[in-house]
Amino acid sequence: PERQQAKTPPMGWNSWNAFRTEVDEAKVMGAAQKLVDSGLSKLGYVYVNIDDGWWLKRRTSDGRMQIRTQIFPSAAVPGKDPSFRAYVDKVHAMGLKAGIYTDVGRNACSQAYDLHSPNLPEGTTAEREVGLYGHEQQDIDLYFKDWGFDYIKVDACGINVYGPGTAVVRDNDYTAFPPLIDQATISRTNIPAVRAMYEKVDAALKSANPDGDYILSLCNWGSADVRTWGKDVGHMWRTSGDITPNWTRMLHNFDSASTRALYAGPGGWNDPDMLFIGHGDFDANHLTEAKSHFALWAIINAPLMIGYDLREAPQSLLNIWGNADIVRVNQDPAGHQGVIAYASDDVQIIVKTLSNGKKAVALFNRGLAKADVTLTAGHLKFSDTAPVQLKNLWDKSAPHFTGDTTFSLAPRETLIFEASGQRRLTDGEFLSEIPGRIN
Ligand code: GLA
Repeated sequence: PERQQAKTPPMGWNSWNAFRTEVDEAKVMGAAQKLVDSGLSKLGYVYVNIDDGWWLKRRTSDGRMQIRTQIFPSAAVPGKDPSFRAYVDKVHAMGLKAGIYTDVGRNACSQAYDLHSPNLPEGTTAEREVGLYGHEQQDIDLYFKDWGFDYIKVDACGINVYGPGTAVVRDNDYTAFPPLIDQATISRTNIPAVRAMYEKVDAALKSANPDGDYILSLCNWGSADVRTWGKDVGHMWRTSGDITPNWTRMLHNFDSASTRALYAGPGGWNDPDMLFIGHGDFDANHLTEAKSHFALWAIINAPLMIGYDLREAPQSLLNIWGNADIVRVNQDPAGHQGVIAYASDDVQIIVKTLSNGKKAVALFNRGLAKADVTLTAGHLKFSDTAPVQLKNLWDKSAPHFTGDTTFSLAPRETLIFEASGQRRLTDGEFLSEIPGRIN
């Protein structure tokens, strides 16, 4: 059955690309406030997601996860267990939704929290296991029923699916964390094991949210063939390792999702990872690159998660995330992911069919040289004898052509248009093309 949530790709903000484990309540609330004040929330950016770094790396003796109240002061409740309830209520009162982060395994990716909490008791092994494994229902009930979260990102470092020892070595006190799955069966290939673990999480989510109103983001980097089963278990699945603010890495992540259009649709989306606009190759001095990153994510129906300290966002970046025409392409209700209609050397043409019969089309120059690209009516599956009307979704110019037209792309530039034209195969044309058939 089709999943009811995430009918269009989820949109919002996530703390990881901006702050790593240096996340805190002021930073998150600053982002939430800016989503509202800038108007981004009205465009659909409603999820405010805390990523890695929120927990104190010790469970209580009865297995309860603890919050780093030093950095989330509103979570400290005198005489009671720390709780995110007040924080989530505040986020909800702003008209936004709240997301949280965990891991499907025993431990998790970053293990640096003890640095922030030097006086933590040693703890038993069990108390030091912060992942969901063995605590699925207990943790999910805490996060969704007690605290009121709407969205959860579930990482997979704790099962080592991406290579022998990687997560374990990153763990400061790894001896306390036997790998969940035997190293000999390292489970990039262990599809049933990984799927079963995520299914257990989803079952816990269904139990905690009988109305089905939750979002589950699967973060196992495209491993264990997640693209083929992700939509049955969650609402989005990572198709690659982590994005970095680097052009080549962005291309890698884009390619990991752009080539997998068939797996995605309403209720379940390919996730090439969060936006890195504002940083490195995509900072405010590289607006061509930043705009390309955004247009590409939009046209392949990627979830649009802003990864920048919004308190400091310059207008030039707000204008990118806030391009309502491009957001509309991403959020089109038909949910057809854009497909690669043409590729040659450094140029790609990506075409997405919209619910109103129009198309969105992106002309993408991946390289460092200028490039000419010829768009044909055929790429759009439009008649090449009728005019094709374009609307440039960046500068709003409206060129038109019949047959084909050529654009010059700057290095790393992406032009994105909405296109209307005459469908190439009307029923009449189709019938008349079948020999012996009277139209
Ligand atoms: C993994 C995930 C990232 C982020 C970090 C946090 O690397 O893929 O998106 O959540 O963990 O440690």
